[in-house]
Amino acid sequence: MVIDPIHEAVHFLERQLKVKPVVAIILGTGLGGLAKEIDETISITYEQIPGMVTSTVESHKGRLIFGKLNGVEVVAMVGRFHFYEGYSMKEVTFPVRLMKHLGVQKLMVSNASGALNPIYQKGDLMLLDDHINLLPGNPLIGSNKDEEGPRFPDMGRPYDQQMNRVLTDVAAKHQIKIHQGIYAAVSGPNLETRAEYRYLRIIGADVVGMSTVPEVIVANHIGLPCAAISVITDVCDPDNLHPVSLAEIIEVAATAEPVLTKLIVQTVAEL
Ligand code: HPA
Repeated sequence: MVIDPIHEAVHFLERQLKVKPVVAIILGTGLGGLAKEIDETISITYEQIPGMVTSTVESHKGRLIFGKLNGVEVVAMVGRFHFYEGYSMKEVTFPVRLMKHLGVQKLMVSNASGALNPIYQKGDLMLLDDHINLLPGNPLIGSNKDEEGPRFPDMGRPYDQQMNRVLTDVAAKHQIKIHQGIYAAVSGPNLETRAEYRYLRIIGADVVGMSTVPEVIVANHIGLPCAAISVITDVCDPDNLHPVSLAEIIEVAATAEPVLTKLIVQTVAEL
C-alpha cells in the first residue's frame, strides 16, 4: 500500500500534539519574530517531519511551532519554501496541505516585497487584495485529487473578504497604517530590472515578491480561507533605483516586524 506523504506527516505530528491548531501562520523573510509571542510551544524542525523538505535560505530557520497565540491554538511556519530555492511547486505548498489536514481553518501569510506603487514607503504594510501570478509554474499542475478540491478552482476572490475585513478593522483600532493592493509574484532570485519594474506597475501590481502566491493557490484549491500581508522592504522606483541586498531587506523587515506582529496577534482572536 502506498502511504500518502501528507498522511505520514499528519500522523507524525498528531502523535506529539495535544490540541488541534485552528489558525496557521506562514512567516516570511525576516518576519519570524512572531514566534516569540506563542505560548506553550512545541517546536518541530522541518527535518523531523516526514515528506517535508528543508528551507535553504539562511534567514529562514525552518520549523513548525505549535502553541497558543492570544488564546488561540496556532501553528506557525517559521521559514517557508521558495520556488527559487529549486523546490517544486508541490514541495513549496506541501505545508499548506499538511496544515489543512491537521484541522486548520484559516491561513495567514506574511512576506517581504518591493513597492511599485509610488505612495508606498519602506516599512509600510500592505494587505493583499489580489495577486498576479508570474511564476513559471502552478502547484495544481498534474492530476487533480477531486476529494481535495476542484480541477479548476475559482480565483475571483483569492483573499478571504471576512479575514481582510477583520485585519483592516484591527489595524484601524490600533492605528496601524495598512495599504490594500495587488501583489505580483515572480520567481527571482534576482531582483527585477528597471524595465521589469515599469512593466509590473503597468500591469497593475502595487508590490512584487517571490513567494505567497503558490500557497494561496493551494489554500483556495482546498477551501482554506486565507489572508496575506506584505511588508514593504524596498522601493522599486525605476527612475531612481538603488541596489538592494538581502541584508537590507531583512533589516527593514525587522523594523516593521513589531507592528506586523501586533496586527496578527490582535487579529487571530477575532477571526
Ligand atoms: N522584488 C522581488 N522580490 C522582493 C523585492 C523586490 O524588489 N523586495 C523584497 N522581495
